[in-house]
Amino acid sequence: MTLPLDTERLMFRDWYASDLEPFHSICSDPSVMQFVGDGEPWSLELTEQFVARAREMSQTFGYCQWPVIHKAGSALIGFCGFVPASGGAEIGWRLAKEYWGRGLATEAARAVLKHGFETLGFQRIIATVQVPNLASIRVVEKLGLKPESRFHRNGRELILFSIDTDNDR
Ligand SMILES: CC(C)(COP(=O)(O)OP(=O)(O)OC[C@H]1O[C@@H](n2cnc3c(N)ncnc32)[C@H](O)[C@@H]1OP(=O)(O)O)[C@@H](O)C(=O)NCCC(=O)NCCS
Repeated sequence: MTLPLDTERLMFRDWYASDLEPFHSICSDPSVMQFVGDGEPWSLELTEQFVARAREMSQTFGYCQWPVIHKAGSALIGFCGFVPASGGAEIGWRLAKEYWGRGLATEAARAVLKHGFETLGFQRIIATVQVPNLASIRVVEKLGLKPESRFHRNGRELILFSIDTDNDR
């Protein structure tokens, strides 16, 4: 199913079985994964688990980390969406390297954030980003999230950002 939150260059939809191959080529790229989790590229098994969890989440909650489709060419170029988090949801994104630097993550995330507040009814949306991930921190800032605290996971330091429904966006 296509979601009602497409943008000028992007659309979002549910996961299909045929997404596994193009999505895995993104998740097995070391430069894409350097600031995700422990920084290791994913095995095919991990990519499969991610897609299976996203499909379950979509069924259970009505949201997930949706595939991002580049309208020109219809390629799956990554994901953007939510996972549940205490008091609301956590927004996240990942794009294939060849699509970086064109404002696409910001374009995707702005639409997803709006959908989260206006359609899904979240009161609070958070993002967690590893400290050296400057591109992702910049996207978070452009969305209007504010830094709240720092914590460690997988031996790495992360920043927790948040935005509430009544914040100016
Ligand atoms: C993070 C990511 C989604 C950004 O995608 P993108 O489409 O290139 O992002 P945008 O073009 O919308 O915005 C990136 C911003 O970061 C800036 N930026 C990029 N690299 C940077 C760097 N090394 N230092 C500082 N700023 C940087 C860009 O200039 C741009 O800001 P601007 O619009 O003010 O010029 C992409 O790099 C990615 O998929 N990374 C790997 C996965 C990942 O880390 N996901 C996030 C986990 S929290």
